[in-house]
Amino acid sequence: MRRVLVCVALIALLPGFWKTRWVNAADENKQQVNTPQSADTVPASTSNYVGADSCASCHQDEVKGFKDNPHAKLELEHGGKGVTCESCHGPGKAHVESGGDVTKIFQFSTATPKQVGEKCLACHVGEHPNFERTAHGEAGISCTSCHSNHKFEAQTPLLKMTQPGLCYQCHTDIKAAFMQPFHHRVNEGLIRCTDCHDPHGTFQADLLHINTTQDAICTKCHIDTLGPFVYEHPPIKTEGCTSCHSPHGSPNPRLLARNNINSMCLQCHTASMNFTAPGTPSFHNQANQYQACTNCHVQIHGSNASSYFFK
Ligand code: HEC
Ligand code: HEC
Ligand code: HEC
Ligand code: HEC
Ligand code: HEC
Ligand code: HEC
Ligand code: HEC
Ligand code: HEC
Ligand code: HEC
Ligand code: HEC
Repeated sequence: MRRVLVCVALIALLPGFWKTRWVNAADENKQQVNTPQSADTVPASTSNYVGADSCASCHQDEVKGFKDNPHAKLELEHGGKGVTCESCHGPGKAHVESGGDVTKIFQFSTATPKQVGEKCLACHVGEHPNFERTAHGEAGISCTSCHSNHKFEAQTPLLKMTQPGLCYQCHTDIKAAFMQPFHHRVNEGLIRCTDCHDPHGTFQADLLHINTTQDAICTKCHIDTLGPFVYEHPPIKTEGCTSCHSPHGSPNPRLLARNNINSMCLQCHTASMNFTAPGTPSFHNQANQYQACTNCHVQIHGSNASSYFFK
C-alpha cells in the first residue's frame, strides 16, 4: 500500500501531471468547470511551478513547520527537488508574481469538500478509495474537517485534535454515551473510536471495521467470544454483539442493553420460558425464576461442551 502511495506521489510530481489531471477532470465533470479554482484550471506547465524556496520569503511559518511534516518526504524525491507546497496548492508562479494574490493559488479555506477531497485523494486514493460515498463524505465533511496540514496535534497523523475530542466536536450524543457508568474506556485513553470505526469508510454499516477473520470487530479484542464453538448461540453470528450489548456505554454492567438479563433473553426465548405457566419443565421452575438465566447458562457466547451453554 505504502509503495503504491509513494508511486502515485512520484507521478504527481512529474512535469505535466497536474495539467493532464485537471484537464481530464474538466472533461469528465462539467460541474467542476462551472466553479473553477482559478489556479488549477489554468493549464499548468512545469514553468508555472516555482519551488518551495520561493514561498519561504512570505510564508515563513508554513515553510519552517514543514520539515516535521510527513509530507516533507516528498521534498526528498527527485534528488531533493521534489515540489512540496505546490503538490497541494498547485503551481504558484502567478501567485508569487502578483505579490500574493490569493485568487491565484489553490485555497483550501474556500474550496468545497469535493475539491479538497480531489486534492488529497490524488495521492491517497489507494488508502481511502470510498471516502466520498461514506456517511462523512455524503454529509459534506472533508479531509480538512479532521486533518490539518500545518496546525496539527503532535504525534497524530496530521489531526487537528486528538481522539476522542476530535470526534466529540460533532458527535455530542456519543460523548454522553461514554459518560455512562459502564463504558469502553475511550475517554480514559484505553481504546479509541478508530479501534472500532474507520472515519474514511468501510464496507460495513456505521463505518465499522471488521476483524481479519471477517467477524465483528469486537472479537479482535474479545477473542474468547470468537469461536467457532461446537454449540454456537445463533444470535451472535446472525444479529451481532449489539443485539445484547451497547457498544459505547450503558447504565448496566457488562454493557448490557437491558437492565434485566432475563427480560433480554426472553425477547427471543418466549414460549418455553414462561416460568409460571402450567407444565413448565422442572429445570425452569418457579423456585429459580428470579435467578439470572446466566447463572445456569454460563457460556452464553457459545460452548464446546454443552448445547445448553452450561459450564
Ligand atoms: C511575495 C509574497 C508571497 C510569496 C512569495 C508567496 N505568497 Fe502565498 N500569500 C501571500 C499573501 C500576501 C497572502 C495573503 C495572506 C493573507 O490573506 O493572510 C498569501 C496567501 C497564500 C495562501 C492562502 C490562501 C488562503 O486564503 O487559503 C496560500 C495557500 C499560499 N499563499 C501559498 C503560497 C505558496 C504555495 C507559495 C510558494 C509557491 C506562496 N504562497 C508564495 C504572499 C506570498
Ligand atoms: C502529492 C501527493 C500528496 C498529496 C496531494 C497529499 N498527500 Fe498526504 N501524504 C503523501 C505522502 C507521500 C505521505 C507520506 C506517506 C508515508 O509516510 O509513508 C503522506 C502522508 C499523509 C498523512 C500521514 C500518514 C501517517 O501515517 O502519518 C496524512 C494524514 C495525509 N498525508 C493526509 C493528507 C491530506 C489531508 C491531504 C490533502 C490536504 C494530503 N495528504 C495530500 C502524499 C500526498
Ligand atoms: C471524520 C474525521 C476524518 C476525516 C473526514 C478524514 N480523516 Fe483521515 N484520519 C482520521 C483519523 C482519526 C485518523 C487516524 C486513524 C488511526 O489512528 O487509526 C486518520 C488517518 C489518516 C491517514 C493515515 C493512514 C490511515 O489511514 O490511518 C491518512 C493518509 C488520512 N487519514 C487521509 C485522509 C484523507 C485523504 C481524507 C479525505 C479524503 C481524510 N483522511 C478524511 C480522521 C479523518
Ligand atoms: C499535503 C498538502 C499540503 C502541502 C504539501 C502544503 N500545504 Fe499549505 N495548506 C494545506 C491545507 C490543507 C491548508 C488548510 C489549513 C490546514 O489544513 O492547515 C493549507 C493552508 C495553507 C496556508 C493558509 C494559511 C493557513 O495556515 O491556513 C498557507 C499560507 C499555506 N498553506 C502555505 C503552504 C506552504 C508555504 C507550503 C510548503 C512549505 C504548504 N502550504 C504545503 C495543505 C498543504
Ligand atoms: C466535522 C464534524 C465531524 C467530525 C469531526 C466527525 N464526524 Fe462522524 N459524522 C459527522 C456527520 C455530519 C455524520 C453524518 C450524519 C450522522 O450520521 O450523524 C457523521 C457520521 C458518523 C458515523 C455514522 C455513520 C453511519 O453510517 O451512520 C460514525 C460511526 C462516525 N461519524 C464516526 C466518527 C468518528 C469515529 C469520528 C472521529 C474520528 C468522527 N465521526 C468525527 C460529522 C463528524
Ligand atoms: C468498542 C467499539 C466501539 C468504539 C470504541 C466506538 N464505537 Fe461507535 N459504534 C460501535 C458500534 C458496534 C456501532 C453500531 C451500533 C449498533 O449497531 O447498534 C457504533 C455506532 C456509532 C455511531 C452511529 C450510530 C449512533 O449510535 O449514533 C456513531 C456516530 C459512533 N458510533 C461514533 C463513535 C465515536 C465518536 C466514538 C469515540 C468517541 C465511538 N463511536 C467509539 C462501536 C464502537
Ligand atoms: C480495541 C479493543 C476492544 C474492542 C475492539 C472491543 N472491546 Fe470491549 N473491551 C475492551 C477492553 C480493554 C475492556 C475492559 C474495559 C475496562 O476494563 O474498562 C472491554 C470491556 C467490554 C465489556 C465489559 C466487560 C466486563 O467484564 O464488564 C463488554 C461487554 C465488551 N467490552 C463488549 C464489546 C463489544 C460488544 C465490542 C464490539 C462492539 C467490543 N467490546 C469491542 C476492549 C475492546
Ligand atoms: C444473546 C446475548 C448476547 C450476545 C449476542 C453477546 N453477548 Fe456478551 N454477554 C451477554 C451476557 C448476558 C453477558 C453477561 C454474563 C454474565 O453476567 O455472567 C455477557 C458478557 C460479555 C462480556 C463480559 C465477560 C464475559 O465473557 O462474561 C464480554 C466481554 C462480552 N459479553 C462480549 C461480547 C461480544 C464481543 C459479543 C459478540 C461477539 C457478545 N458479547 C455477544 C450476552 C450476549
Ligand atoms: C436475539 C435473540 C436471542 C437472544 C436475545 C437470546 N437468544 Fe438464546 N437462542 C437464540 C436462538 C435463535 C437460538 C437457537 C434456536 C433455539 O434453540 O431456540 C438460541 C439458543 C439458546 C439456547 C440453546 C437451546 C437449545 O435448545 O439447545 C440456550 C440455552 C439459550 N439460547 C439461552 C439464552 C439465554 C440465557 C439468553 C439471555 C442471556 C439468550 N439465550 C438470549 C436467540 C436468542
Ligand atoms: C436453575 C438453572 C436455570 C436457570 C436459572 C435457567 N435455566 Fe434454562 N435450562 C436449565 C436446564 C437444566 C435446562 C435443560 C437442560 C436439559 O434439557 O438437559 C435448560 C434449558 C433451557 C433451554 C433449552 C430448552 C428449552 O426449553 O427451549 C433454553 C432456551 C433455556 N434454558 C433458556 C433459559 C432462559 C432464557 C432462562 C432465563 C429466563 C433460563 N433458561 C434460566 C437450567 C436453567
